[in-house]
Amino acid sequence: MRKNIVAGNWKMNTTLPEGLALAKGLNDALKNKTTNCDVIIGTPFTHLASVVAAIDTDKIGVAAENCADKEKGAYTGEVSAAMVASTGAKYVILGHSERRAYYHETPEILKTKVELALANGLTPIFCIGEVLAEREAGKHFEVVDEQIKGSLFNLSAEDFAKIILAYEPVWAIGTGKTATADQAEEIHAHIRATLAAQYGQEIADNCTILYGGSCNASNAKELFSKPDVDGGLIGGASLSVEKFLPIIEAFDK
Ligand code: PGA
Repeated sequence: MRKNIVAGNWKMNTTLPEGLALAKGLNDALKNKTTNCDVIIGTPFTHLASVVAAIDTDKIGVAAENCADKEKGAYTGEVSAAMVASTGAKYVILGHSERRAYYHETPEILKTKVELALANGLTPIFCIGEVLAEREAGKHFEVVDEQIKGSLFNLSAEDFAKIILAYEPVWAIGTGKTATADQAEEIHAHIRATLAAQYGQEIADNCTILYGGSCNASNAKELFSKPDVDGGLIGGASLSVEKFLPIIEAFDK
């Protein structure tokens, strides 16, 4: 069966000491607690190795927020999937709308990043989602289908089964505006049907599909109660233990 996951995406926030304090704080909060979901934190590249060393990685998985679309070599400033994996991080967030919008990451580039991540043993958390104009034009189903097809449907069923998806409507990211639980369920169910058509029902049923976009302690429970919403990718509310922990606890019985 698919996993429930609550994943944090710190984005370009926290210095190394601040990030370490946040990771350790979460680690302490979860130490004697049984969670009903997997917990992941996505940190800046500079923090990965230190965060991995400072926490119990059986309890909290660590993700990079990006990796290069090249294997290695003369690409000044880039960080490869192999480098990420060598820190002990097990996940990589790819295709976030901020990467697509500000760093011009195309479906083609993302396809390569996904392949390199998988080749290096990393689990991609692959983000998809429409902008407001696309939602208003009723094109959101089409948009997410294209994003999935353009970067993932070249994968074998075996490789696709390793992917975690995150549906993040761009209009809900950092805006305080959340998709309603019904809107999230509607499109998550659609995404699962798209996966089933390509890879069969079993792989579709086993794919974890997270919701992201202003998910917080007050809306997480309702969102996660929907049958096709398997957890959340959390930006702003992952930057403090006080805000992040209740989202994890939304899976408590
Ligand atoms: P947000 O960000 O929770 O701050 O809206 C979510 C994300 O971008 O992953």
